[in-house]
Amino acid sequence: MRKPFIAANWKMNKTSSETREFISGFVPAVKDVTDVDIVLAPPFTSLAIASENLKNTNVLLAAQDIFYEEKGAYTGEVSPLMLIDIGCKYVIIGHSERRQYFNDTDEVVNKKIIAAKKAGLGVIFCIGESLAERDAGKTFEVLQREIINGLKGIDEKDIVVAYEPLWAIGTGKTATPEQAQEAHAYIRERLGILYGNNADEIRILYGGSVTPENMNSLMVCNDVDGALVGGASLKVESFIKIVTFRGEQ
Ligand code: PGA
Repeated sequence: MRKPFIAANWKMNKTSSETREFISGFVPAVKDVTDVDIVLAPPFTSLAIASENLKNTNVLLAAQDIFYEEKGAYTGEVSPLMLIDIGCKYVIIGHSERRQYFNDTDEVVNKKIIAAKKAGLGVIFCIGESLAERDAGKTFEVLQREIINGLKGIDEKDIVVAYEPLWAIGTGKTATPEQAQEAHAYIRERLGILYGNNADEIRILYGGSVTPENMNSLMVCNDVDGALVGGASLKVESFIKIVTFRGEQ
């Protein structure tokens, strides 16, 4: 049985005080949730305050990106050790916004995953196709390329995969449960080629306009093991509802 994994990706939202306020409302409401791994990924500037406020709770901290060098003259970048030091357990790598706006190629993504794992961070590895690629019937091809290149030379330990079709991110256009299941099953099959039976243990999250209303219908799909949530994770009540989804048909 794969334990559901639900992560909030706040992107470039929330100041330190807004982060503290969110956590003070959120953590007490989910303190008894033991059957889900709950993760918050605030922006870098809120990691310290989040770490302090999440101590001794059941909510884990993640960063939204990382640089692959250990230290040195890389103005503006943050190293794996810095993230560990501040209390991060996970890091999101290869988010489509990083790929699109900041030139995170498959090769860069691969280097970042290697560096994160070497430091002992769990990785939320994002993949997904654009609308043009889907319309051209290239969804599987894109997923295959991103998996093969992104996970080159990497074992499956502490890897969580997030399937995030670009056309569903921030658009309110969620993938249907059928579309999500089809992509997730394909991803698991490809992971099986890399990792054999261990692929059955890898959590594959869905991301793209997840809301409290559609969470349950996605989570009942066999190969959907959780969610990476952007917009709907910014409000305490809405993210509580997502984390406490029913999981029933
Ligand atoms: P969204 O973002 O939930 O706002 O669509 C998801 C993501 O990009 O991780």
